[in-house]
Formats: sequence, C-alpha cells, structure tokens
Amino acid sequence: MHCLHSTTLKSAFSRLKLLPGRWCHRLFSRSLSSASSKSSAWHRPDASAAAAVSVDEARRTLSVTWPSSAQGSTASHWEAASLFPLAWLRDSCQCPTCFNPATKSRTLHFKDFNPRVPVRSASVSPDSSTLTVEWQDGHRSSYSRQWLQVRSFTESARRRRGEALAFTARKKQWSQELTEFDYSELMSKDSVLLELLHHLDCFGCLLVRQSPTELGTLPKFGQRLAGFLAPSNYGHSFEVKSKSDPSNAAYTSGYLGLHIDQSFYSRRPGVQILHCISQPTDGSIQGGESLIADGFQAAAIMRRSHPDHFQALTTLPIDFNDYGSDFVGDFHFINRETVLRLNSIGEVDRVTFSGHSRDYNQNHLEPEKVQLLYEALKIFYETLSKPPCIIKHKMQTGHMQLLDNRRVLHGRLAFNVIGTAERFLHGGYVEWDEVYSRMRRLEEAARGDAREAQ
Ligand code: OGA
Ligand code: ZN
Ligand code: ZN
Repeated sequence: MHCLHSTTLKSAFSRLKLLPGRWCHRLFSRSLSSASSKSSAWHRPDASAAAAVSVDEARRTLSVTWPSSAQGSTASHWEAASLFPLAWLRDSCQCPTCFNPATKSRTLHFKDFNPRVPVRSASVSPDSSTLTVEWQDGHRSSYSRQWLQVRSFTESARRRRGEALAFTARKKQWSQELTEFDYSELMSKDSVLLELLHHLDCFGCLLVRQSPTELGTLPKFGQRLAGFLAPSNYGHSFEVKSKSDPSNAAYTSGYLGLHIDQSFYSRRPGVQILHCISQPTDGSIQGGESLIADGFQAAAIMRRSHPDHFQALTTLPIDFNDYGSDFVGDFHFINRETVLRLNSIGEVDRVTFSGHSRDYNQNHLEPEKVQLLYEALKIFYETLSKPPCIIKHKMQTGHMQLLDNRRVLHGRLAFNVIGTAERFLHGGYVEWDEVYSRMRRLEEAARGDAREAQ
C-alpha cells in the first residue's frame, strides 16, 4: 500500500515556503520597554536564558526565541524559535474582550480591528509561559507559549498543520479486500471507532459485521459516527428493495452500474452506509453481489495511461439529474459537474458519476467535444471495472458497507428472488465534516490534549 500522488503533494509543500531564506537577518528587536523608540537594534538572544522577542515593523512580524529550558511537556509541538505576523497576533488576541472562552471563538470584529496597528512593546514572562504584546492603541494582548507554538508560522509548524489537514496524502490504495469491523466493539470502544473512521478516510471502504437487523440500527450507527444521518430527497434514510413503483434505479432488481450516490446534488453526501437487513445466504437470493470501485485509483491510472482523456474528465462537465417523487414530494435536481474534480494543487479530490442519473440533455457541451468525452467515460468505466480498482462481494444479513462517496463508486449485480426471501438494504449518509470533527475529538481525547495544544 502506498500513498496516491505523493510526488504532487511533496512539490506542493515545497511551494509553501512563505519567507525568503534570509528573513531572520532582517529581524530587529524593538526595545521591549522603551515604547517610544523608533530605532532598532540587532538582537542576539541567549537560548539558555530568558526568551527573546524581536519585532520587525517593516515586515510586520514578531519572532520569539524560546529558551530550551521551556520545552516542558509540549515536546510534540516544541520549536526553539517561533514566528508570527503582527496582524495575525492582534486578530488572535485571547483577552476577554477579543475572545469568548465559552464559545471558544473570536469576539474581535473587523469593525474594531486595525491590521496595521504597531507594537508598542512585547515581552515574554520570566518562566517563558506567556507572551504579552502591548499595541500602540493601548490594547494589551497575552498568549500562552503552548497555544502560540502550535499556531506558529515557521516552516516546520506550517508543514505539520498541512500534513494534519492534507486530503490526498492520507488516501491509500486498497488491497482489494474489505477490512471488517465488529459492530458491538465499535459501538462500545472509542478506540475502535477511531480506527474505523481512519480506515474509511484512508481507504474509502469497509465492512461492519454482526450488526442488529432492526431498522433503528442505521440511525443509531450514524449518530455514533457523526451525530446524525444526513438527509436527502429520499429521506433521512432510505429502504433499498425491489419495489413495484420504483422512484430510483436502486429500487429494482436490475443491474446497477457503478455510480456515486446523489451525483445530481452539488452538496454530495460524503459517506454512504448500506445496512443489510436481509440477504439470506441459503441460495434464495441469486445475484445481488455488491461492486465497489476506487475512483481515485482509476483516475491515477488514466492520468498516466490516457492523459487527454483524463483531461477531458477534469474539464468537460456533465449534467446529472433526478426527476420524480419521494420523501420531499416532487423533485427535479440538476447538477453540472466534471467527473473528476481537481483541487488547487491538481489532485483529484472528488468523483461524480452515475449512469442512471446522467441527464439526457448535455447540449451545454460543444458538439465537437462530445466524442472525446464519451471515449473518456468508457475508458474510465473500464478502468474502474477491473483490478486493481474493483472489489466484488456479497453483503450478508447484519453487514454494513461504508463508502467514501467522494471517491468510491458502487453498484450491484441483478438479482432473482426464490420463494418468499427478501433482499432488503437500509441506506443512509453521514457527512465528512461531522466525521472529521468526531475523529479530531477522539484523537484529542486519546492524546489528552486541551484546546491549547490543538
Ligand atoms: C443505492 C445502491 C446498491 C444495492 O441504494 O444507492 O446503490 O446493492 N444500492 O442495492
Ligand atoms: Zn484583546
Ligand atoms: Zn447507490
């Protein structure tokens, strides 16, 4: 297993160098006590003694050299020298006027904020725990060292934050096997839940086994993962069975091609969950196997093997639609989107595709581009449909399948029912924002971090 697009990411980080290499030479200390002094002096801090603060009004930065004796327990975020833009420091003041500890958010508003306010004085307490900045307008700010070091603008601190929030850097190729988690374990142990969420983030798919087969199980599970299930035009959750008057292609017994759910929504549900209430293994359901395919992996393959077709999928948008009637009453959705979306550093960060939700009207496309687009779609679908991109498995009663609906396409083989048996899946969604939020809090709790160190 390896990271997708690691080269792209590395080059992105190398571009993160904000400051020219010699920025330190231009720093000078503003006299920490003589507020009126406009002159500057070179400052040579003694790392073994007290912290040293330097302010550069021309560059609008403040730097602190911390004594090594201050390292203490925050070793993971420790840095010997920190750098802060002055505008950011003023904006980030943690005093009771500028910050509300109850809501943990800013109460300094732009109407009262002057991004050019000069520093009158700046100092670090003798125990190196607190930086105090007095501004020319009389406002006084103070910040704890631990809080500051996590938010420092030095290259290493920025890299650490970039890595923590990187999107595709965490994505891993799967091994064409579905990793399985035990339902009751992950409902009762936070460490198992965190492992599951990490796995979903990195690999985009997994299976939960031994879940109860009541209809209430899925909402309870969604609550554990994200706080709640995310609704759609098909309801807070939806029942996938062969129905006599189907409002969606999934509600038939036919073949369902590889697709991303809700491709007709611009706000795509992030994670799809299918809970298998019933799919007996006694031969009474013939067919009905699930297909899942890694869209990121297929895109990476096409990028190398068919660059022109890859480019077509990233630049020529398709209309997806959904027309009918269900939970929300009558609906008509239209979403125009490229099959592959590139982020600001050229990585594929979202896949949008659905054969059954593809609009018949595509005349926003210039006619001479249409042939190339169709060929690109065919190559994409063929790439998805074979190793290493595809997994085929058959869900059993009590299984739950979780998929990253930005990345992984899914489908199903047609099925036949013998006698009175039933194939019945209960489906729902959760959103990545809530999942990531839950992951961060679980990680923080596991590390024992307070807000200071996040
Ligand atoms: C769906 C779906 C797959 C299946 O409901 O969106 O893709 O196995 N169902 O029925
Ligand atoms: Zn303040
Ligand atoms: Zn689906």
